[in-house]
Amino acid sequence: MAGLVSAPVSGLNGDVGVPGDKSISHRALMIGSMAVGETTIRGLLLGDDVLRTAAALEAMGVTIKRDADDLWRVWGVGVGGLQEPDNVLDLGNSGTGARLLMGLVATHPIQVQFTGDVSLRTRPMGRIATPLGQMGTQVIARDGDKMPLTVIGARMAMPIEYKLPVPSAQIKSAVLLAGLNTPGQTSVIETRPSRDHTELMLRHFGATLTVTDDAADRRVITLTGQPELESKDVIVPGDPSSAAFPLVAALITPDSEITIKNIGLNPLRIGLIDTLREMGANIDVTDARDQAGEPVADLIVRTSQLKGVTVPPERAPSMIDEYPILAIAAAAATGVTRMQGLAELRVKESDRLAAIADGLTACGIKVDIDGDDLIVTGSPNKIPGGAEIESRMDHRIAMSFLVMGMIAKDPVTIDDAEHIATSFPSFVPLMNEIGAKIGEQK
Ligand code: S3P
Repeated sequence: MAGLVSAPVSGLNGDVGVPGDKSISHRALMIGSMAVGETTIRGLLLGDDVLRTAAALEAMGVTIKRDADDLWRVWGVGVGGLQEPDNVLDLGNSGTGARLLMGLVATHPIQVQFTGDVSLRTRPMGRIATPLGQMGTQVIARDGDKMPLTVIGARMAMPIEYKLPVPSAQIKSAVLLAGLNTPGQTSVIETRPSRDHTELMLRHFGATLTVTDDAADRRVITLTGQPELESKDVIVPGDPSSAAFPLVAALITPDSEITIKNIGLNPLRIGLIDTLREMGANIDVTDARDQAGEPVADLIVRTSQLKGVTVPPERAPSMIDEYPILAIAAAAATGVTRMQGLAELRVKESDRLAAIADGLTACGIKVDIDGDDLIVTGSPNKIPGGAEIESRMDHRIAMSFLVMGMIAKDPVTIDDAEHIATSFPSFVPLMNEIGAKIGEQK
């Protein structure tokens, strides 16, 4: 796909509704597939990542239908009811789809081959294979821990207590989903809490799951295996990680005021909002409500003069996908922003630490990497821009630098826009509707 150019603008205005939460969409499909009877899902993200999860589940015997009005119906096969697919499952760009599905199939007596695009095939899968191996699953992977790989499901799965080596909702979720078809109690211990959509969704479908703090103040999540999950109705809130792009764009573009509707504000996802507020952002939360167990609200965002802050490492799990766009906000702030403890950014859809640093440098911003910290020196009102940025098959790098183009002196180009559709297919029209000038590269 061609590249895109984003030109400087002012005065973003209007209401925006961003697509459904990617994390919750994957989980609704997967857990709905393990229930008995018909689950309905409204607001499902129609991004490529989620559509691939749906196709993978269909390939394993789940019936999934999409109505004309985007109501999705999933006829679950019950815990343990997946069938062996007769082809490789291709999860495209989606680490979440691949890793959670590996967990889900791991305790079925079936063999499943997984692959993905060039980006996904470079990402580490050993972090999932290790706990699954302890449960009795065999994973045979290219180069030890890369896709393509084969999961040979455990016939007699064993419950484990697994301490996460890195804060990761994907590892936690893979173990819990494997625990579904495992007798006894499967536990995951996390030192730094990561997003808990799997826990909330499992409970929503009737599983017995407890969350306690142990003596060392770690979070212990325990699932009782082999539950009979009941079919449910799910409403997917707007994705805060997608809302982050219009949110930061409105904060840093002069004379802007926008309302972002229906955004999920799970406390384990709002590190970006906390950080932006510390930087001086004017963000009002209105109409806070509860939607199928997840907190949801509207956000009113106005142009604000931001100042640099230090973002501590313990905040990283609650904003792990938001560092690329925070780095753009930091470039527009006065002073220095230091983002600490970002090792996990090196294994996302791209090496995001390198991608952010190279992109900001190309746009004329001073940036340093110190160990796992990213340090951005802001340059309010005088960001040169004028660069072509490599999007590296990474949707969030592409969208972040298109936001950068909105406030730079000269337009910013991204070389390839294709991957924006993995999480936010309506990004360009939606941004242009509130006043951006994003068009195809000539
Ligand atoms: C996700 C967890 C995060 C995040 C990803 C979605 C999830 O990954 O980066 O985009 O839905 O569980 P890690 O768990 O690897 O940090």
